[in-house]
Amino acid sequence: MRPAPALAAIDPADLASEPLARAGTIPSAWYTDPRFHDIDSELIFARTWQHVGHAAQVATEGQYLVSTVADDPVIVVRGRDGVLRAFFNVCRHRGGPLATEHGCARALQCRYHGWTYLLDGTLRGVPAMDRTELFDRKDYSLVPLRVETWQGLVFVTLDAAAPPLETFVAGIAERIAPTRLGDLQFSREVRYVVEANWKVYVDNYLEGYHVPYVHPELVKLYDYQSYVTEVFDWYSLQYTPLTGDNALYSRDGGGDAFYYCLFPNFMLNILPGRLQTNFVRPLGPARCEVVFTYFHDDVESAAARQRIEDDVAYSDAVQAEDAGICARVQQGLASRAYDRGRFSVKYEAGVYHFQELVRAAYRRGLAGGAVPRTPPPPLSRD
Ligand code: FES
Ligand SMILES: [Fe+2]
Repeated sequence: MRPAPALAAIDPADLASEPLARAGTIPSAWYTDPRFHDIDSELIFARTWQHVGHAAQVATEGQYLVSTVADDPVIVVRGRDGVLRAFFNVCRHRGGPLATEHGCARALQCRYHGWTYLLDGTLRGVPAMDRTELFDRKDYSLVPLRVETWQGLVFVTLDAAAPPLETFVAGIAERIAPTRLGDLQFSREVRYVVEANWKVYVDNYLEGYHVPYVHPELVKLYDYQSYVTEVFDWYSLQYTPLTGDNALYSRDGGGDAFYYCLFPNFMLNILPGRLQTNFVRPLGPARCEVVFTYFHDDVESAAARQRIEDDVAYSDAVQAEDAGICARVQQGLASRAYDRGRFSVKYEAGVYHFQELVRAAYRRGLAGGAVPRTPPPPLSRD
């Protein structure tokens, strides 16, 4: 079991909302106080849909992928009946893992003492348990989780009461049409560790204000002042049409760039024939992992392979600049000199929107008690 988070670290006075033009940023303690790692895990990550992988990883019977959601290990597996299921990747014996990396199997065998579960989570094989009394295998199935797929991307939530995934992504598929993300093919995954709280990374993603100062090369390629930020219930969008000068990304001298940030920690960077997702996973109070996953419409031809190389190299350089500034900002937020700041109405509507959703999540947490989770199946001991 996970210890309850120290909700007393949240000062109710910090939860009041103000309009953007009058609002202050969230307090620096929310980025620096180590208690907020568990608070965010419980009040934000355990209650939202979390990206865990893409559909091609679990396309056929027995294929599974592993991830973590709100610090809990999870496994998503395609059953013999073709149904996609998710479970806590936690054996009911003594907590061992069913898998430690992605793979494919006819059954899920715990890596610790070999208990074996069918792909639907039912416990089947239990070596050397014949002298254990009042033990019924049927009481020890894997604990299920909700899983949904959208546009070829797989999401899991720990919250049994969360609205369907579609609620959170409503309107995106229509907006980006005729692009269909699910038609693109996986091309590359790159992982980065950033020495900053996950919220620092998300804040930074959500504004182009820093671009001329942090990315002097990028600013030549993009007319960042033309970016429009639009906010929706659970995501915000930075949008710009592409011009012909953008040789790397525009197609036939045109196209659109869509940069979506889905609350709380998932980004869709959509350019013609190309999707790159960023998934931000907190590793601790002042450290996060950012997983970049690339998908392209052509992954075969020599020209396409070169384009992918260029795309990854370019993003890598931009990411290094963002990671560098985020680490410095984390230090600044922890300074005795700093508590909270203000927003540019012109450039930081997306940051404000994200921070308001964090505030709302904390408000709900203070008002509400424990996360409504799928409980483990009951044990019978008659
Ligand atoms: S913990 Fe899984 S078999 Fe022991
Ligand atoms: Fe940046």
